[in-house]
Amino acid sequence: MIDLRGAAKIYATGGEDVVALDDVSLRIDNGDFAAIVGPSGSGKSTLLHILGCLDTPTRGEYILDGVATQELDDFGLAAVRNRKIGFVFQQFNLLPRLTTQKNVELPLTYAGVSRAERGRRAFDALQRVRLAHRVTHRPNQLSGGERQRAAIARALVIGPSIVLADEPTGNLDTKVGREIVALFRELNETLGVTVVLVTHDPEIAAACRRTIRIVDGRIVGDTRHA
Ligand SMILES: Nc1ncnc2c1ncn2[C@@H]1O[C@H](COP(=O)(O)OP(=O)(O)OP(=O)(O)O)[C@@H](O)[C@H]1O
Ligand SMILES: [Mg+2]
Repeated sequence: MIDLRGAAKIYATGGEDVVALDDVSLRIDNGDFAAIVGPSGSGKSTLLHILGCLDTPTRGEYILDGVATQELDDFGLAAVRNRKIGFVFQQFNLLPRLTTQKNVELPLTYAGVSRAERGRRAFDALQRVRLAHRVTHRPNQLSGGERQRAAIARALVIGPSIVLADEPTGNLDTKVGREIVALFRELNETLGVTVVLVTHDPEIAAACRRTIRIVDGRIVGDTRHA
């Protein structure tokens, strides 16, 4: 479970300090499917990065599945990420020279998994996102929706308990965006993976089970819907 307590994130820049998050407390149960919404600059990406152990709060506590992550060093944080967190980005972040299959294998390569097992697990993940017919394509030979599905397969390949997505439909047209959020929903329901996504799109947020609204680094709304 995600349990953030009184978290602040303050960026020290040349001039004034920037308070990106201000006293944010948030619990997200395992298996939940939540959207984070709010204006540009309100702290959504900062919050997602903290939830994903890509960044740490300046103040406050972040307890992830019972582990007080603020006590971990960079090594410990990386281990948590590699074991249980998958990331999906607006720009897909696929490596252009690698095939779909090799892109999806990459997190396993870093984790030292054998070649045969990498191949098998990446193919499984590609089947889950219905991209098994595109394994030898390179990213520039895929449509936008297919690129995002490849990126989702890459996030899934480690068997994460949490998938975090920062505006995963931001570069896609409306119809493809709907398909991607339907895929997240399916993965949430069939694998039980916790999904937290950032979106600007009210329709995408409405397709999630919970909407967390953030303004000026503070949570100002948290609603559940069907
Ligand atoms: N590394 C950084 N150094 C200094 N300030 C930063 C840094 N990263 C983010 N900020 C500031 O923190 C605030 C929150 O940024 P964040 O990226 O979390 O916003 P966001 O809600 O994701 O916005 P958007 O919808 O535009 O992606 C912004 O004012 C931003 O300028
Ligand atoms: Mg952002």
